[in-house]
Amino acid sequence: MIPELTLRRPDDWHVHLRDGKALASVLPHTARQFGRAIVMPNLKPPVTTVALATAYRNRIRAARPAGSDFEPFMTLYLFDNMPVEEIDRAKAAGFIAGCKLYPAGATTHSDAGVTDVRHIDNVLARMAELGVVLQVHGEVTHEHIDIFDREAQFIDEVLAPLVERHPKLKVVLEHITTRAAVDFISGARAGVAATITPQHLTYNRNEIFRGGIRPHFYCLPVLKTELDRRALIEAATGGNSRFFLGTDSAPHARGSKESSCGCAGMYSAHAALEIYAEVFEEAGALDRLEGFAALFGPDFYEVPRNEGTVTLRRDEWSIPRAYAFDGDIVIPMRSNEKLRWRMISA
Ligand code: DOR
Ligand code: ZN
Repeated sequence: MIPELTLRRPDDWHVHLRDGKALASVLPHTARQFGRAIVMPNLKPPVTTVALATAYRNRIRAARPAGSDFEPFMTLYLFDNMPVEEIDRAKAAGFIAGCKLYPAGATTHSDAGVTDVRHIDNVLARMAELGVVLQVHGEVTHEHIDIFDREAQFIDEVLAPLVERHPKLKVVLEHITTRAAVDFISGARAGVAATITPQHLTYNRNEIFRGGIRPHFYCLPVLKTELDRRALIEAATGGNSRFFLGTDSAPHARGSKESSCGCAGMYSAHAALEIYAEVFEEAGALDRLEGFAALFGPDFYEVPRNEGTVTLRRDEWSIPRAYAFDGDIVIPMRSNEKLRWRMISA
């Protein structure tokens, strides 16, 4: 049994840090675990310009715990008729990791998103020219498509043609949930990758309904079948550099989840790396955790790998039932449960 595991300091390539008091509540967790993170732009109003991204970045940096050298990478929220010049400004800014495609209506605060990707083809072309990465929330929104089929349908209907139309564009399919997505990414052209969350590696969709309806297991894309989960585990632990870490940690106050119309999102920033470590250990692939968590992401985004290390010790601890959040509480992933790994130093 390995008592300790030291890895190059990891990064989170997809996280929701929110803003204001909520930001102050969750940032210490992310900043403790990760050297850098790509921060999603789905605020209200969304982060659609470099000016807004700059101001948001400054708020995040100002909210870091004393002594933290955590660095946020920002994203711009794509919308119909976005001016192409914004992409030039994004490239020049130096801290913008890409632009996020939210199909309008697909998830939390996506109503201002893109109604048809054809409307942003000129923007995507400029992104390809300048090497700005496209991050994709991969779900169609059609009412007639079953919620469990929305990712697979998006790949066929939107993503596969988009990747062909823009052969130089770097694309990350975010928080993949299906075997179909694993197969698509594995077989795609160079420059196409995916992030995988701890919740989609840990649970299948039964969890949402186990003994009653459990809103804290509701996220988007929604949890899928056990076969899908196994495909994700194989992808994450298989050493393929196209698959890397992105928690999609998405905190909501307890009351907004435990509601007749609860919000989508699971909070995992408090223990993300430890949860991934359990998944990798169970798959017999602890030696591949470092690639997934700390090497493949920076290589894809063409930024240097982090210099420092983090150490996990095999030392059981209990995750609290809740953490303080925005004057309320957030129920974290694995709430009230024991974890085998504990991060002891960063
Ligand atoms: O579950 C989710 N929550 N999925 C998303 O795509 C957005 C996120 C959020 O911002 O709450
Ligand atoms: Zn997200």
